[in-house]
Amino acid sequence: MSDTSVHTTDADLEDGSKRDFIFLATGATAAAGAAAVGWPLVAQMGKAADTLAAGSIEIDLSKIGEGQQLKMLWRGKPVFVRHRTAAEIAEANAVELSVLKDPEVDTDRLIAGPSGAVNQKYLVMVGVCTHFGCVPVGEAGDFDGWYCPCHGSHYDTSGRIRKGPAPKNMVIPPYSFISENVIKVG
Ligand code: FES
Repeated sequence: MSDTSVHTTDADLEDGSKRDFIFLATGATAAAGAAAVGWPLVAQMGKAADTLAAGSIEIDLSKIGEGQQLKMLWRGKPVFVRHRTAAEIAEANAVELSVLKDPEVDTDRLIAGPSGAVNQKYLVMVGVCTHFGCVPVGEAGDFDGWYCPCHGSHYDTSGRIRKGPAPKNMVIPPYSFISENVIKVG
């Protein structure tokens, strides 16, 4: 069986100037040559997209600096992995559940690492707005999290919907730790 896993590289890391792009890289297929693709082009990737859709993503969290966000493509959807700052974590923890449209405690949106402890630094989400499926922009909106420009949904630093038409929090994909710093999505 061919290796369809997607591994992170430094090029996958996002900064503000690259925020609107998804970076794909794989050690096993020619898809690495694509380097960077705009999200609307993903549907046109044909076989490469099909191959990636069936695979899993391994992400080395240690390569994501504090305040950085990684975007990867997994099963045809963008996945965001954000290394949150202490301030972002504090903001997420300070929110009263009673003000949330889709109440979830921040730590319930995370999983425990190999040590059994939950590390609140790393938030892993499917980067798709739960309204009509646009891709929200990071470090934006009224709650310092993500903002969906399509119809104005604001998500907080835990990816929870706080304002606008989206009905639900951004979805947490199935993932697991395969070592202290590496997660596998899918
Ligand atoms: S798709 Fe995001 S607000 Fe409508």
